[in-house]
Amino acid sequence: MAPNPFYDRDIVSIKDFGKDELEFVFDATDRVSRLKPAERSELGKGRTLGYIFYEPSTRTRMSFEAAMASLGGSSIGIADLKSSSVEKGESLADTIRVIDLYSDVIVLRHPLDGSSRFAGELSQNPIINAGSGSEEHPTQALLDMYTILKEKGRLDDLSIAIVGDLKYGRTVYSLLYGLANYKTNIHLVSPPSLAIRKESLYEVHNKLRIKEHSDLDDVLPEADLIYVTRIQRERFPDIQEYEKVRGSYTINEKTLARAKPDVAIMHPLPRVDEISQSIDHTKNAIYFKQASYGKELRAALLALMLNENLPG
Ligand code: NCD
Repeated sequence: MAPNPFYDRDIVSIKDFGKDELEFVFDATDRVSRLKPAERSELGKGRTLGYIFYEPSTRTRMSFEAAMASLGGSSIGIADLKSSSVEKGESLADTIRVIDLYSDVIVLRHPLDGSSRFAGELSQNPIINAGSGSEEHPTQALLDMYTILKEKGRLDDLSIAIVGDLKYGRTVYSLLYGLANYKTNIHLVSPPSLAIRKESLYEVHNKLRIKEHSDLDDVLPEADLIYVTRIQRERFPDIQEYEKVRGSYTINEKTLARAKPDVAIMHPLPRVDEISQSIDHTKNAIYFKQASYGKELRAALLALMLNENLPG
């Protein structure tokens, strides 16, 4: 087997990994998922995950904790800054240095672009970027791509519509950087004021087949998958600008009626009002399955970061 490229390595940006490396983690996710609990719980035994979230989180934090527990390891961390010394004015640098003393791998979410790169330079132990401003959320993209692979059987030759807040949505950027390794057609659908930041695609635009739209109807008949995102209210400098675009898109039964019968609807979650609950029961709605794949993918990623060789 090829050497493990994730061992003791920071996960800051999807751009740091090539196609072989992405596929290495997808393959490891299959393998770790198949392990017997006794074997699996050896992979993180005696190891500690330390986390700090400067922004709210439900799935990312809990799936990392659940993943670490399934490997036989433990998690410690700060989910509420009010109970930490950040409240007293402690810097990100000092906070990371201390978490580094108590853990074997660090998970960080922070509102600033570049925060994880900075933290990774300071810490001895590997860092996982769990969201850095509107820049990136690499493990979300890994689990999104793994979900597409499992549910659609491939990442090439698909027509993927990415809908919503493409300006501030960090999951969108990581996903696009990852998809740049595949030959797939991408339709970006957003209100003009929330269009993709062209400068952030500078390194990958040659590899992506992108078309931009403001009307979802333009792409519905051909989309194999619709990746819906939340309008990132907290990142708007002016709340009135948010009010202008809130509720721009709502995926509901009428949307499904105009789409391919097997269209998959994904969302990194949390959703607000961009997907109607009335479609949750349909086979098209795979966003909760996606959250469930997230735990398995994160378990495999942690196992690879903490162990040079995996069993199986
Ligand atoms: C996303 C995030 O934090 O960027 N959440 C997540 O981790 N699944 C998406 C969002 O907040 O809209």
